[in-house]
Amino acid sequence: MTTTAITNIASLVTNDPSLGDNSPLGLILDAAVVIEGDRVVWTGESSKAPATDNAVDASGRAVIPGFVDSHSHLLFAGDRTQEFNARMSGRRYTAGGIRTTVAATRAATDDELSANVVRYLTEALRQGTTTFETKSGYGLTVEDEARALRIAARHTDEVTYLGAHVVSPDYADDPAGYVDLVTGPMLDACAPYARWVDVFCEKGAFDGDQARAILTAGMAKGLHPRVHANQLSYGPGVQLAVELDAASADHCTHLTDADVDALAQGDTVATLLPGAEFSTRADWPDARRILDAGATVALSTDCNPGSSFTSSMPFCVALAVRDMGMTPDEALWSATAGGAAALRRTDIGRIAPGARADLVLLDAPSHVHLAYRPGVPLVQAVWQRGERTL
Ligand code: NIG
Ligand code: FE
Repeated sequence: MTTTAITNIASLVTNDPSLGDNSPLGLILDAAVVIEGDRVVWTGESSKAPATDNAVDASGRAVIPGFVDSHSHLLFAGDRTQEFNARMSGRRYTAGGIRTTVAATRAATDDELSANVVRYLTEALRQGTTTFETKSGYGLTVEDEARALRIAARHTDEVTYLGAHVVSPDYADDPAGYVDLVTGPMLDACAPYARWVDVFCEKGAFDGDQARAILTAGMAKGLHPRVHANQLSYGPGVQLAVELDAASADHCTHLTDADVDALAQGDTVATLLPGAEFSTRADWPDARRILDAGATVALSTDCNPGSSFTSSMPFCVALAVRDMGMTPDEALWSATAGGAAALRRTDIGRIAPGARADLVLLDAPSHVHLAYRPGVPLVQAVWQRGERTL
């Protein structure tokens, strides 16, 4: 198998404390990485790098693990520019706009939906994302949800069934009937394409009892739970997520002390989605409070046409540092290793022997520049599974 060394790296983030400076980022200065096939096989000081078939000179730039975007909604058609405009003129965000996207998504062809996914994942790749999760949730019929997941599964292994995004407009007068559909025929049609089951646990979407029924039905079919929790108001989502050992509770914007304690004690990652607060002019989640309690935090884009139409992990890192009390080191960790933890993956989100060779070369001397130089396209090269993809 061919070996490639990336040498003269000013600052290498490994996310393995023992490989570097014993900090969570496991930083190595003046470093090199050696890739063999689709794996990392060596990291260390550049001067000690073993001989390889090929070499890439990083010329004093930084290398970080590829971003792991563990929360997106890419299976949609249409856009909601007017709704965004109205919000920026003072209108409040409600999840009601989801129904606008449902209508456009149902009307789209398979090819249109597929082209949309490719468009946004290509955008994300240019910004350093090497793994992404994505969900259904804009079809809300058996056929439209299954079709979304079938298309999603062509592009990623991290596919989430979100038939329980909101009650389908077709069941406006019969929400219990819609829960029966989501936990019955729709789940049967969707489970073969998905790894995860998700529910939007929120006033106006699904309450705690409905959310529990939906998640446990999915778990009985072999799906693992994750939850849209505590986004717009306080509620039972976070504690339900921890109780069911969900991989992640996503949003976590309105948390009681008991919610924070539950996250700190359980294995459920708190996935924060600053693009949503940015695009809805809502209060920021308090990352500092969650981290100080000892919980694990991930950062993701929540890329969707309503509440967060960004595919940029660097943008989310910059927001988390500026507005959510995170240090640049914490934000970088959360956008890489944190995302991997939120997907219960150990093969990604780090640059260490045995890990998948998903790497980003930044046109900057360190990862700190992602927040220090917001909005600047700093991603210079990307490797996925050892292949140069940008
Ligand atoms: O994660 N909160 C629920 N779902 C999305 C928003 C979807 C939409 O507005 O279309 C979210 O923010
Ligand atoms: Fe979401």
